[in-house]
Amino acid sequence: MSTQSSVRLLTLTLAALLCVEGRVHCGPGERLALGVAGQQDTCRPCSFGYYQDRLHHRHRLCKRCLIFDEYDPRMFLVSDCTRFHDTTVRCVDGFYVASDECQVCTNCSLLQKVQIRPCQQNQNAVCCETQIVRHGKCVTSI
Ligand SMILES: *[C@@H]1O[C@H](CO)[C@@H](O)[C@H](O)[C@H]1NC(C)=O
Repeated sequence: MSTQSSVRLLTLTLAALLCVEGRVHCGPGERLALGVAGQQDTCRPCSFGYYQDRLHHRHRLCKRCLIFDEYDPRMFLVSDCTRFHDTTVRCVDGFYVASDECQVCTNCSLLQKVQIRPCQQNQNAVCCETQIVRHGKCVTSI
């Protein structure tokens, strides 16, 4: 390979590397704002009421914070939403968090079913139709 073509190859490689490196990535608490008219992309802080918890990302939108309903007696606030993480709420016993609300846990025994997993903060109880449970799943026969 001639010196000239080596230099050209090196230049192209460097340009390609810089291009990859040059792709702006944002961190937690930020969203990507695309650069206009050939300008570089930038990172902007999430607006009030929104958060971003991803580390190295190119998402153009922050996520909406869960709205804590202070008038809902089933829900209580653990920590407020910040730019970096969502609102943390808990539900009183017998309820779990789903779709920004405290939903009542299924009572398996009232449905004449077997509870294989108790209700947890972010997950309803899991019931089986039968007594036969294998590897945490309901089965109809052994
Ligand atoms: C289900 O309901 C029964 C009868 O009301 C109650 O005794 C039991 O504690 C309940 N189980 C759960 C897991 O809430």
